[in-house]
Amino acid sequence: MASATATPDTLPAWQMLSQHAQALKHVHLKNLFGDDPGRWQHFTRQVAGLTLDLSKQRWDDDTLEHLLALAQEAGVPGAIEALLSGKRVNVSENRPALHTALRLPADAHLEVEGEDIVGAVHDSLAQMERLVQRLHAGQWRGATGKPIRHVVNLGVGGSDLGPLMVTHALADYRPSDIHPVEVHFASTMDGSQLADYLSRFNPETTLFVLSSKSFTTIDTLSNANTARDWLIGRLTQHADLPEVSPHAKPISAELIVRQHFIGVSASPDKMSEWGIAPDHQLMFWEWVGGRYSLWGTIGLPIALVIGMENFRELLAGAHAMDSHFRDAPLEDNLPVLLGLAGIWNVNFLDIRAHSILPYDGRLEYFAAYLEQLEMESNGKSVTRQGQAVNYSTCPVLWGQLGPNAQHAFYQLLHQGTQPVVCDFIAPLKRYDEVENLDTRRHLKSQHRLALANCFAQSRVLMLGDDALEEDGPRPEHKRYRGNQPSSTVLLDKLTPATLGSLIALYEHKVFVQAVIWDINPFDQWGVELGKQIATDTQAIIDGEKSISRMDASSRGLIEAFWAAEQE
Ligand code: F6P
Repeated sequence: MASATATPDTLPAWQMLSQHAQALKHVHLKNLFGDDPGRWQHFTRQVAGLTLDLSKQRWDDDTLEHLLALAQEAGVPGAIEALLSGKRVNVSENRPALHTALRLPADAHLEVEGEDIVGAVHDSLAQMERLVQRLHAGQWRGATGKPIRHVVNLGVGGSDLGPLMVTHALADYRPSDIHPVEVHFASTMDGSQLADYLSRFNPETTLFVLSSKSFTTIDTLSNANTARDWLIGRLTQHADLPEVSPHAKPISAELIVRQHFIGVSASPDKMSEWGIAPDHQLMFWEWVGGRYSLWGTIGLPIALVIGMENFRELLAGAHAMDSHFRDAPLEDNLPVLLGLAGIWNVNFLDIRAHSILPYDGRLEYFAAYLEQLEMESNGKSVTRQGQAVNYSTCPVLWGQLGPNAQHAFYQLLHQGTQPVVCDFIAPLKRYDEVENLDTRRHLKSQHRLALANCFAQSRVLMLGDDALEEDGPRPEHKRYRGNQPSSTVLLDKLTPATLGSLIALYEHKVFVQAVIWDINPFDQWGVELGKQIATDTQAIIDGEKSISRMDASSRGLIEAFWAAEQE
C-alpha cells in the first residue's frame, strides 16, 4: 500500500508508465501483434480451469514490466498477505475483509483477533446444510402442514446479486433426487417482483428468505412486511384454504412467521426483533462485505438450487484462486495481471469505460454482479488516508450477454467515439451431457457459433478494417477504427468450481486495483447519503415534513405525484 504521504502517482514506476504511455498510446494494437508473433504466449496465463488471454490489451513487455514494478512499489504483495490473513484492511470500518475465510477447507487454520474462525465458518455451513436438507427432503412444512415448493429470496445488492447470478449460472447442476423447490428473487423496493409471486404462489407452500446483512435496508424490509402480511392474511382466513377444515384451530401469526421465514443476517438481534425464529436464523460476520458474501449463508438460495455438494465445489474453486493469488509471483498472478491491465487502461490510456460480455446465456447476471463488485468497491475518490485522489479510479462498468449486446451496443464499440475495454468470457466445452444425439449436435453447433462470434468480435475490435479480407475502398461509415483493447477469459467448462474461480479472480482483481489506487474497496459510504435523502423525501411525500425546503425540481415532481393521487 502507498505510504501515508506518497500517493501512487508519485511512485517512480507511475512516472515511468506516464512516459512510456506517451509513445505507446499512438501504436495501434494491430502493430503490437505484427511486432510480436509470440504475443499469445507472452500474455496468456492459465490456472484453476481458467485461461486468461491479455494479448489484446494495448501494452507490450516493457509496459508489463513497469506495471509489475508499480505493483511492487504500491505494496501489492504485502497487501495480499494482509487481506488473506485477516488484517483490518477495511480501514474506515476498522475490520478485516475475510470473504476468503468462508471458502477455507475445514482443516485450515486462520486466527483472527485471537479466534480460529475456520471452525465457526464450517459450523455455519453445517447449519445451512441442515436447512437445505430439510427443504430438499420435503420435511420443511408450512403453517398448514404442507411441504414448501417455492422459496423467495428477499434481498438487494450483495444479498441478491451473488445468489441470483450463481443460481442462474449453475441451474444445470440442480440435483435430481430432491423434493422440487423453486427459488425466486425479489429485490426491488417497488414490489414489482414480489407482487408477481404473491399473485401466483400458494401461501401454504411458500417460504421467504429474508437476506440482509444490516437488516435495516428499506428495500428488503418493505418486501418482507408485504410478504408477512400476505401470509398472515391468507393463512388465518381458512376460507381461502379449501383443504383446511373450517373447524381447524386458528393458525397463529407467530406460527406463520416461524414456518414461512428464514433470516440471514449479521444482525441476529434485528432478526429476532422482526420475528424470525432463532433456529431459523442464519448468521454471517461483520467482516464479510455484502458484495463479497455469496460464499456463506447469504448463499442459501444457491445451495437450495445446486445442493450443498456443488456449493462446496463453488467454494473450492474460489479457494483455488485464493491460493494462486497468495502464492503466484506477480508476473504469473492472474488477478494481479487483470488488475494491472485495468490500471494501464484507466490511468495511462485514459480508457474509462469497461464492458463485460459473457458468451454464455447462463451468465446473464454476471455483468450485473460485477457492476456492484467493481463500482461499489472502487467507485471512490478519497485515499485510505482521507486525501482526495488526483487520478482516475474505477471505470464505468456495464455489460450484457455478448451475443445480445452485438444487437444492442456493439455499434458504439466498433464505430463510436468512446474508447472501451471489453472482457469476453466463454466456456470451451458445453452440451456434452445432452442425451439426444441430434439435439446435442445442434446445440454443440450453436456453442461453436457463439465462440466464433466471441473470438471474431474481439478480433475486429482489435484490428478494425484489417480484420476484413475484402480489399478496396469503403465509404467512411463502413470503416472500422479498431484498437479497442480486450481481455478474454476462457473457462474449460462452466462448473461450480470454475465459476468460483472466475468470481474470485474478479474479487482479487478489484483488490489489486484498490491497493494501487490507495483506496478502500470494502466500504460504501456513498450509498448511505442516498438512503437518508430518500427517507427525508418519503416523509415529505407522506406529508410528515414540509416541502418548502425542497429545490424547485423536487418540489415539482412531488406535487405532480400528489396531483396524480388526487385524480
Ligand atoms: O448498496 C448498499 C448496500 O449496503 C450494499 O453494500 C449491500 O450489499 C446492500 O446495500 C444490501 O445491504 P443489506 O444486505 O444490509 O440489506
